[in-house]
Amino acid sequence: FKLQSIIQGIPKAELHLHLEGSFEPELMFQVAKRNNITLPYDSIESVKEAYKFNNLQEFLDIYYAGAQVLLHEQDFFDLTWAYLTKVHSENVRHVEVFFDPQTHTERGVPFEVIIKGIHRALEKGKNELHISYKLIMSYLRHLSEEDAFKTLEASLPFKDIIDGVGLDSSEKGNPPSKFKNVFKASAMQGYRLVAHAGEEGPAAYIWEALDILNVARIDHGNRCLTDKALVKRLVDEKIALTLCPTSNVALKVIQKMDEHPVAKMLDKGIVATIHSDDPAYFGGYMNENYYQTITALNLNLNHIRQLAINAFEASWLSASEKEKHI
Ligand code: ADE
Ligand code: ZN
Repeated sequence: FKLQSIIQGIPKAELHLHLEGSFEPELMFQVAKRNNITLPYDSIESVKEAYKFNNLQEFLDIYYAGAQVLLHEQDFFDLTWAYLTKVHSENVRHVEVFFDPQTHTERGVPFEVIIKGIHRALEKGKNELHISYKLIMSYLRHLSEEDAFKTLEASLPFKDIIDGVGLDSSEKGNPPSKFKNVFKASAMQGYRLVAHAGEEGPAAYIWEALDILNVARIDHGNRCLTDKALVKRLVDEKIALTLCPTSNVALKVIQKMDEHPVAKMLDKGIVATIHSDDPAYFGGYMNENYYQTITALNLNLNHIRQLAINAFEASWLSASEKEKHI
C-alpha cells in the first residue's frame, strides 16, 4: 500500500500512449451501439477474453478492429476524454499522445473529424484537469510511404495543433528507412519526430531511426542493450527511450517483468521513461506500469525519481514548463 501511495503521489508525464489503445471495452460497446455497428463479441467479458496475444501483430489485428467503431467527432472526443479523466486520477500532469489517422481515413472518416474530436477533449483536459498536452500523428509503417505522404498533406490545415509525427504498427520488415522522405518532409513542416524502434525489431532499426529519420526520441528501444555503441550514443546524446513494461509482457517482447531492461538502462545512464502504450488492451495505466516495474525489478527510490524526472526532461515542454514539474 505504501508503494502505491508513493507512486500515486509522483507527478507524472506520459509520453507513449496510443489513444486508440486506451479504448476500453465498455466505451467500445457504447460507441458501437450508437453507431449501429455489431462487434464480434457478445459481452465485455468475451472481449477481455480475446485480449491474449503472442506477438505485436496479434495485438494490432484486434486493436485495428476495435477502432473501426469510431466514426464521429463525438466518438474521438469520448475516447480522448475517457483517457484524460483516467490519468488525471493517477496524478498525470502532462501527456504526449499518439493517434493513427490512417486507421480511420482508410475507412472514409475525414481527418478533420478525427482531429477535431481529439483536440476538443485535449483542450478541455487542459482547462478543467490542468493536464498539458502535445499531439503526435503516427504513420502506419505497414502501409506505403506514399500513403504517409497523403496523411502529411491532410494534416497541414491542422499543423498548429499537431506537435509531431511518429511511426508505429508492424515493425518487423518495415524498417524506419522506408519512411526517410516523409520524415524529412514532416520536419520541414515544423513537426517534431519520434519513431517506434527496437520493440520487436533489431537494434539496427534504432540506428536507422536516429541516423536516417533524425528522431528526437525512441519509442520502446528495448533492444538497444545488445549494442554497446548504440548505448553510448543514447547516453552521450541524451536520447530518451519511452518504454512500456506491461505492453512488453503482454506482447511477449519479454517473457516476464523481471527480465525488463529498464533497470539496466537507468544504471547505464540512458534517459529511460515508462508509459502505458495501449492500456485498455494490456491492463495497466501509468501507476500500474510503475508498480509492476518497481516490484519485479526491485527499483530503489533513486530509480523511481529518475524515471519520473526523465519523462518531463524528455517531453516537449519548454524549459520553464519543465522546471515547474521537476
Ligand atoms: N500501435 C499501438 N501500439 C503499438 C505498439 N506497441 N507497437 C507498434 N505499434 C503500435
Ligand atoms: Zn506504442
